[in-house]
Parts: sequence; C-alpha cells; structure tokens
Amino acid sequence: MLNILVCVSGGGTNLQAVIDAVKDGRIRNTRIAGVISNNRSAYALKRAEENGIDAVCLSPKEFSDREAFNRAFLEKVNEYAPDLIVLAGFLVNIPPEMIRAYPNRIINIHPSLIPSFCGTGYYGLKVHEAALARGVKVTGATVHFVDEGTDTGPILLQKSVDVQPDDTPKSLQQRVMEEAEWILLPKAIDLIAAGRVEVVDGKAVIR
Ligand code: GRF
Repeated sequence: MLNILVCVSGGGTNLQAVIDAVKDGRIRNTRIAGVISNNRSAYALKRAEENGIDAVCLSPKEFSDREAFNRAFLEKVNEYAPDLIVLAGFLVNIPPEMIRAYPNRIINIHPSLIPSFCGTGYYGLKVHEAALARGVKVTGATVHFVDEGTDTGPILLQKSVDVQPDDTPKSLQQRVMEEAEWILLPKAIDLIAAGRVEVVDGKAVIR
C-alpha cells in the first residue's frame, strides 16, 4: 500500500482528482494518509474534511522565521510516514532538508510542458498568461520529481493541450486542469504505487 501525503495551497481540484481516482480504482493500492496546507482558507482543506482525510494547516506566517517553519513542516510530514509526497497546487518552497529526506519521493504537478513557462514566478494563472503572451499553439501539464531546483526535477509524465484562439488565461487554466492535470497526477501516483517508476541517471523511467 502506497502511503501518500498531499500538500495543497488553494482550491484543491488536483487533490479532488486524486481522491476520486483512489475511490474509483484508477489509483490502485494507495492510501491518502493526510493533507497539509500552508493556507488556512484553502478550499482543499474542506475537500479533505468532506472525505474523512486528516488535514492540517502549517502556515509560514505563524512561525518566527522560515527555518522554524521548515523544521515544523518536516516534523509534521514525518509524522505521516509517507512513501510519496504529492505537491498539488502547493505554493511553498520545499525545504532542502525535506528533499534530502525524501529523494525522488516528492512529485509536483506543473501547469505547462516543462521546460517551458516554469521556474521562479511561474505558478497559477501566471503560467497561462505567459503561454498566451508567447503565442504558443500547444501547452499542457507536467508531473515531475522535485529536486532542489524549481520545476527542474526528472519529468515523469506530460500531456499536451491545444491553445484556442479565444483563450483567456482563465479558460486555458481550466482546460489544462481538466484535460491534463487531473489525468496526469492520478496516473503518476498509480504508476508509482505499482512500482513501475524508477529514476535512472536523472531521468524518470516507466517500466
Ligand atoms: C492550478 O493553477 C494548477 O494548475 C496548479 O495549482 C493551481 C491550483 O490547483 N497545479 P488546485 O485546484 O489547488 O489543485
């Protein structure tokens, strides 16, 4: 059984996709041990509560400094003893000590085809604003392992989404979530739960 911990910051639609996929069997042999949010008002916390999943809020704002938050965050994560940490719309930088403690055991969903429109400052709507500003015809989403960079870890899955001529950042974000993110994240977790993923020479290999 793969024990997963999901980290969230906002609406939690990716968390919901994972919850639904565990329920309907698209994600096998997996248990959501808990949800951690940095944002007390995140609707994702309500989604966890509605599904009987243990959920806590740990906000950096409630700590004297970032080091104190990082220590508390890692302690809380360790309490869940996760096999896999899933960042689902999580907007807090993962402490290097957490990445070292969970090598190739943290995945993130990013709403673009990495290496496009990623890295510092590219999150949420900003990603789609940049894609529309550049005039790309195809965008999409990426699931990648988290390393000490920003959106730089080994790419596990990607899925493309066509940009429509009348797209706004909002309409594009919605379609990328529906047609890519909510499909890729459950698929990635199911592959990992099945033991079919390995990182070899910095590349994610699916067997
Ligand atoms: C969305 O922009 C999504 O693309 C990104 O995080 C944001 C919030 O996602 N991964 P969620 O609804 O909180 O899962």
